[in-house]
Amino acid sequence: MALLFEPYTIRNVTFKNRIVMAPMCMYSCDKEDGKVMDWHKIHYGSRAVGQIGLLIVEATAILPEGRISPQDLGIWSDDHVEGLTELVELMKQHGAATGIQLAHAGRKATVDGTIYAPSAIAFSDQYKTPAE
Ligand SMILES: Cc1cc2nc3c(=O)[nH]c(=O)nc-3n(C[C@H](O)[C@H](O)[C@H](O)COP(=O)(O)O)c2cc1C
Repeated sequence: MALLFEPYTIRNVTFKNRIVMAPMCMYSCDKEDGKVMDWHKIHYGSRAVGQIGLLIVEATAILPEGRISPQDLGIWSDDHVEGLTELVELMKQHGAATGIQLAHAGRKATVDGTIYAPSAIAFSDQYKTPAE
C-alpha cells in the first residue's frame, strides 16, 4: 500500500507517486477545432489537484481526418500549442507529470469528408469505408 505513494524515477523524470491516469477520450471540444477549452483545464486540473502522479491526456488527433469524433482534442496545428501548453503548466503547478496519447482513428474516424486507413475496409456497417 505504501509503495503506491512512493516517488519513482524513469530516466530523468521523477513521478511523485505511482498513480497514473489512462488516456480517456472526453469528446468535449464543443467548437470542433480540437483546441483545449476551460472544460479540459478543469477536468485535468482537478485530477492534478487530486494528486495524480502521471496524467496521460486523452487520444489527441494528429490530423483532423483522424479524429474519432469532431469533439476530439487535436495536435495537428500550431493553433493547438497554446492550450496544450496551458494544460501542461497547470499539471506542473500541482506536481503531476503529463503525457499525451497521439492518435489517428483510421477507419474508426467519424468525421465529415474522406477518412483514411491502411486498407479500404470499413470497420463495420456503421462506419464509412476509408480511402487506402
Ligand atoms: C471514458 C473512456 C475513454 C477512453 N478513451 C481512451 C483513449 O482515449 N485512449 C485509449 O487508449 N483508451 C481509452 N479508453 C480505454 C481506457 O484507457 C482503458 O479502459 C484502460 O486503459 C483499461 O484499463 P483497465 O484494463 O485497468 O480497465 C477509454 C476508456 C474510457 C472509460
